[in-house]
Amino acid sequence: MIYSRIAGTGRYLPEKTLTNADLENMVETSDEWIQTRTGIRQRHVASEDELTSDLCVEAAKAALDSADVTAEDIDAIFVGTTSPDLIFPNIATIIQHKMGIPACPCYATEAACTGFVYAISAADKFIRCGDLKNVLVIGAEIITKLIDWNDRDTCVLFGDGAGAVVLQPSDEPGIISTHLGADGEYKELLYYPVGVSNDLAAAGLGDSRIMMSGNDVFKVAVKTLSSIAQEALDANGLTIDDLDWLIPHQANLRIIQATAKRVGLSMDKVVQTVQIHGNTSAASIPLALDVAVRDGRIKPGQLLLFDAFGGGFTWGSVLLRF
Ligand code: ACO
Repeated sequence: MIYSRIAGTGRYLPEKTLTNADLENMVETSDEWIQTRTGIRQRHVASEDELTSDLCVEAAKAALDSADVTAEDIDAIFVGTTSPDLIFPNIATIIQHKMGIPACPCYATEAACTGFVYAISAADKFIRCGDLKNVLVIGAEIITKLIDWNDRDTCVLFGDGAGAVVLQPSDEPGIISTHLGADGEYKELLYYPVGVSNDLAAAGLGDSRIMMSGNDVFKVAVKTLSSIAQEALDANGLTIDDLDWLIPHQANLRIIQATAKRVGLSMDKVVQTVQIHGNTSAASIPLALDVAVRDGRIKPGQLLLFDAFGGGFTWGSVLLRF
């Protein structure tokens, strides 16, 4: 039986940070409001000339180093992002070229904040069937380029970044199970109103913004994140006490706390980076993973659960031994 396992992790965050104090000078808000409602203290913001693929390349280089493989070893790239450089070609092909990775399958997945979990789930299946050996999987966003900086409802929430892993075949898990889902019924609660076949002319005019019903998103997010965490444990005959670390999508500290409470997990076992990264959408889980791997909290052999939720709504979990 072939499984896939994470052989290395990496991350990259743009240099520029935006604190809550900075936002106080931009919109009518306060550090106190933002921290109380979201837990966020600061977020990273890409510069004008930085592209999402640039962030991906830096995160990927760190992941390759930690897996002890080179660009020549990579035989497929899977990227989850909502903010690609271009409409086409897809961002994975741009990363492949920038990194000097030999010609290979290049997938880009758009599943909003669930993008990385969708991407790693697909990569896992290719490895399990024996087709691929060294797969680069990335979650990345420059979502701040979609932000209306006059809209205090949303501009305080988001940040930019990229996280990457190298997946390799293994005789033992590795990834134990993945569960994905989506329900387009919830589109109106969270969406960006510009696309190729819908109002493309508005793109770049600065009059579009993320449309979000914050309270409704909050409620569905908590319900979904907790039920899919339980689904992953139940499917494998495990209980919450078996888990070493929950790595949830980092949207909002209150969503994370409410989810942990519903599944009966102490916050000591939850990796939290939302305070310093903000909501980085598809990048949030691989960023949090790399932070906790590099600071020594996550150790080989530990049981981890990725728990993601995003616009669509989309959702997904990955249960794995690190
Ligand atoms: N600063 C100060 N006041 C603000 C701000 C701000 N940045 N934004 C909104 N307010 C005001 C509102 O106008 C409202 O004022 P009013 O009472 O006079 O009308 C008041 O604060 C309370 O607003 P609520 O929306 O009720 O605040 P709530 O406690 O629900 O918090 C929040 C809002 C943080 C958006 C919350 O609903 C939330 O986190 N929702 C989840 C949304 C989310 O995470 N989206 C990210 C994308 S989805 C994902 O990643 C899963």
